[in-house]
Amino acid sequence: MLEDGKLYLGTSRNPDDSINKGEYLDLRYANRHGLITGATGTGKTVTLQILAESFSNAGVPVFCADVKGDLSGIAAIGETKDFLEKRAKTIGLDPYVYQEFPVIFWDLFGDKGHRVRTTISEMGPLLLARLMDMSDAQEGVLNIAFKLADENGLPLLDLKDLRSLLSYMAGETEKLSAMYGNISKQSLATIQRGLLVLEQQGAEHFFGEPALKIADIMRTTNDGRGAISVLAADKLMMNPRLYATFLLWLLSELFEELPEVGDADKPRLVFFFDEAHLLFDEAPKVLIDRVEQVVRLIRSKGIGVFFVTQNPLDVPETVLSQLGNRVQHALRAYTPREQKAVKVAAETFRPNPAFDCFVAITQLGVGEALVSTLAAKGVPSMVERTLIRPPSSRLGPISEPERAKVMAVSPVAGQYDEDLDRDSAFEMLQRRAEEAAKAEETERRREEEDDEKEQPESRRWTLPGYGDDDDGDGRSGRTSPKRRKTSKSRPGYKRQTVTEAAIKSMARSAASSLGRALVRGILGSLKKGF
Ligand SMILES: Nc1ncnc2c1ncn2[C@@H]1O[C@H](COP(=O)(O)OP(=O)(O)OP(=O)(O)O)[C@@H](O)[C@H]1O
Ligand SMILES: [Mg+2]
Repeated sequence: MLEDGKLYLGTSRNPDDSINKGEYLDLRYANRHGLITGATGTGKTVTLQILAESFSNAGVPVFCADVKGDLSGIAAIGETKDFLEKRAKTIGLDPYVYQEFPVIFWDLFGDKGHRVRTTISEMGPLLLARLMDMSDAQEGVLNIAFKLADENGLPLLDLKDLRSLLSYMAGETEKLSAMYGNISKQSLATIQRGLLVLEQQGAEHFFGEPALKIADIMRTTNDGRGAISVLAADKLMMNPRLYATFLLWLLSELFEELPEVGDADKPRLVFFFDEAHLLFDEAPKVLIDRVEQVVRLIRSKGIGVFFVTQNPLDVPETVLSQLGNRVQHALRAYTPREQKAVKVAAETFRPNPAFDCFVAITQLGVGEALVSTLAAKGVPSMVERTLIRPPSSRLGPISEPERAKVMAVSPVAGQYDEDLDRDSAFEMLQRRAEEAAKAEETERRREEEDDEKEQPESRRWTLPGYGDDDDGDGRSGRTSPKRRKTSKSRPGYKRQTVTEAAIKSMARSAASSLGRALVRGILGSLKKGF
């Protein structure tokens, strides 16, 4: 099904339904992106499946999300079914070969695949603000938090890290506002609440280490096939924002990490963005602009992005115009909005005098689509009414035992399963802070018993070994009597010195591991340099 660097998609038909010709996707232009659209049940997922299969066979790794669980069958060999055999016969696919594919399952929650994580630091403020649907004021504050962390090389690994930083900021609003611009306590509190909500929604699983290594979704097998990474997204879809932000983060990682390759014979990776409307729903203009930019620029890094969505109107015009390879399944055209969508879809094709695109789109059968791909010199081919080929792998989900088997022999088995408790400076300090707080609490209780019933001024944390009185190994967790006294009389002052010292210390240890200031890319994720 691979012919001179072209992937076979299916066979087109003439207006009288007789067979016309094979329709192909030229691998050289797969990095000019694509769009798969159509109403529900019209064949989008199967089209994605056959594309992923073909890319894999051509040695191109694929990343895709399995939104409904029905894509997982790609890891298993296809089963003979009458309607599949019939389709193969109609389109002259002979022999129709069944095949299983090298799949790596991923899952943010770690149930249906290897764990996928990133750090707060790597995700960056823009995407995090989007994830939490922040107001401008809150986003401003978050930007300052990241600036503070980036400038000082503070590793913000998980949600707890960010929360600690924000609570530090809450105690220093005046001083920090003077340095960085207005920081309102209210915004800080709102962000804190937002982080709690995120945590309850399960995002805490996603932030931490070991973070996903891009190389692991760009693998090929020993026999030269591209690995197909399938992200379990059924549970993830309960939080559509997290789903969309995660995929966007991954896209931006690919963009920031990979070197330019220019025009190549085939892409280095093809990325399918299913339910793509979630990416753009209510997205602020600045984000859409950046997405547009990333999609445009990622091409020269050899990444093809295929958006999958019901309606071409779901994708902003600036992005739509960059999607060179189109597979349009059937759309309904009853309501004015539907008619508009069909019109837009029809108008994006290079017309075929043999039929009216608008009418054809409403009459396409299941597993049939209008197809136009980029041909020689990147010119779109004339649109053809095409019967998409049946998949070689299984149609529908695999069983859980089958999935477990695939995961057990996966090349990343065991690499992401356990949380890594990296002894980052920040975490170390947090532990100390907790110990110190505990010690302080005990002390305070004792004092309270001694003193009359005076309300304690502060439960704020202190860090022994990071003030002006002690440079011990930090494990003592005990506050000196002198320090305690200061704390009692001037809690704000004490906390300031302690946290400042803590931040300085974090900067020192982080600097030794990073060796340079952090730089952020278009979507605000970390640039790693190459
Ligand atoms: N190329 C094809 N060859 C044979 N059968 C197909 C093909 N495409 C789709 N079908 C049939 O149509 C069914 C629905 O297709 P599919 O799941 O791809 O629709 P969908 O557009 O993804 O729907 P949804 O929007 O609900 O996810 C398939 O289960 C299969 O039976
Ligand atoms: Mg589907």
